[in-house]
Amino acid sequence: MAIQRTFRRRMVLRFAFLGLLMASCAGNNGQGENIRLESLSGDELYRNNCTACHGPNGDAGVGGASALSTSTLDYHAIQEVIEKGRNSMPPQTHAFKTDEELDNLIDHIISLRKE
Ligand code: HEC
Repeated sequence: MAIQRTFRRRMVLRFAFLGLLMASCAGNNGQGENIRLESLSGDELYRNNCTACHGPNGDAGVGGASALSTSTLDYHAIQEVIEKGRNSMPPQTHAFKTDEELDNLIDHIISLRKE
């Protein structure tokens, strides 16, 4: 009995310690990653999230991705495609963290158009 109790107490302590350790790590990571002082530029957001299908200049057309250099969508229509997706393009709400970043991204999409 006594041995079992000691064992159980040790296990409880060990898990409590592990829990604390994990909680403190998560806290640190969370802080480091969540507090971003500056918005990412439209160019960075585009490169991180859109080039796989649209390519660096917007014209790669992977999987039927629309050519962005000849797109005629206005600001709000672009916003809608980004937020809701369209046909085989999935919604891209993971691509931006703030309204400012969404604005940067949309401005960048428009800047890909050829004059
Ligand atoms: C998984 C591939 C994929 C990714 C990633 C992707 N797109 Fe698309 N995109 C597409 C496809 C496919 C279409 C055409 C959708 C259709 O057929 O209606 C499209 C269409 C668009 C259009 C419509 C253009 C027009 O004139 O009709 C815009 C704007 C657009 N994408 C922006 C973006 C942005 C901004 C990102 C990154 C945040 C992005 N896409 C990421 C596949 C993708």
